Amino acid sequence: MTPDPTLEAASTLRHRHLLGLADYDADELRLILQTARAFRDVLDRPIKRVPSLRGVTCCNLFFENSTRTRLSFELAEKRLSADVMNFSASNSSVSKGETLKDTARNIEAMKVDLAVIRHRSAGAAHFLTRCIEGVVVNAGDGQHEHPTQALLDALTISNLHVPGRSALDAYDFRGLNVTILGDIAHSRVARSNVYGLTALGARVTLCGPRTMMPVDLEAALDGRDVVVTDRLDEALDGCDVAMALRIQLERQGDEIGLTPSLREYHTLYGIRPEHLEASPDLWVMHPGPVNRGVELAGEVVDSDRSVILDQVTNGVAVRMAVLYLLAGADTFTDADAGS
Ligand code: CP
Repeated sequence: MTPDPTLEAASTLRHRHLLGLADYDADELRLILQTARAFRDVLDRPIKRVPSLRGVTCCNLFFENSTRTRLSFELAEKRLSADVMNFSASNSSVSKGETLKDTARNIEAMKVDLAVIRHRSAGAAHFLTRCIEGVVVNAGDGQHEHPTQALLDALTISNLHVPGRSALDAYDFRGLNVTILGDIAHSRVARSNVYGLTALGARVTLCGPRTMMPVDLEAALDGRDVVVTDRLDEALDGCDVAMALRIQLERQGDEIGLTPSLREYHTLYGIRPEHLEASPDLWVMHPGPVNRGVELAGEVVDSDRSVILDQVTNGVAVRMAVLYLLAGADTFTDADAGS
């Protein structure tokens, strides 16, 4: 497909914070993705550091466990030469009863310019914008949104070879079929990806057991046009990219029994080698952490159709782009990029 020349990137972000993708337009998403691609090039150089955020202080507030997102934000900040502070709830005064508001006010008193927050409660990032003057970036809030995950997923998709879809690298995803598979109801990754992928033109199918679909699906989709099915064969028919989600046992609370067993889930919804044999052009993604043998067979995780580690690599570039555009865009030059 020929890229539509009217599909252009914005020159600056209209938002002061990144709280979610619900209200980010396609041109803003393209600006972030274009900027991230430039930072991918920086990350491939022998010296992987640019001075764009020199003098900017970033604080990473992690009230919930994380491996990829926490490390990736910290590395992105360091690659941009920011001053970095790390906070995790488990070894902070939160364990002594301090509230999010008081924690934020204390961090504000230390003159932080930008805060990255992960929290188990939906809305925590929005709340933080009312507590501090600095820029806020949502690194995942409860079941609400995980915007940088969806952005890194989009960057990863833009690098894929999909027969008949030549415009992916221009962030024109029209005609691309993406299936998001698994525990949709509890997934902030699914929500942010629905917003981001549909804004870029992809056709999105949500697939999972009915017990793992949001009760009020229409409200959750915010008017986005997506296909919903509980049949894996339907969801993979014509699919270009299958994005499997982790079953979020820790967020299912008292709703035990969303699936009779993990073994049955794997039988009905797990992507297995036979799916790759039937669809040799299918790409497989997963935000991590992967439950091998549940969402994906181990052979699928390790196959050459899996781009799970590319997602991780792209995460650093996307987070550099977000931080740079929100906190340092006026300081970055071609010279910074070393070109
Ligand atoms: N994808 C993701 O958010 O992983 P972490 O929970 O390890 O950050």
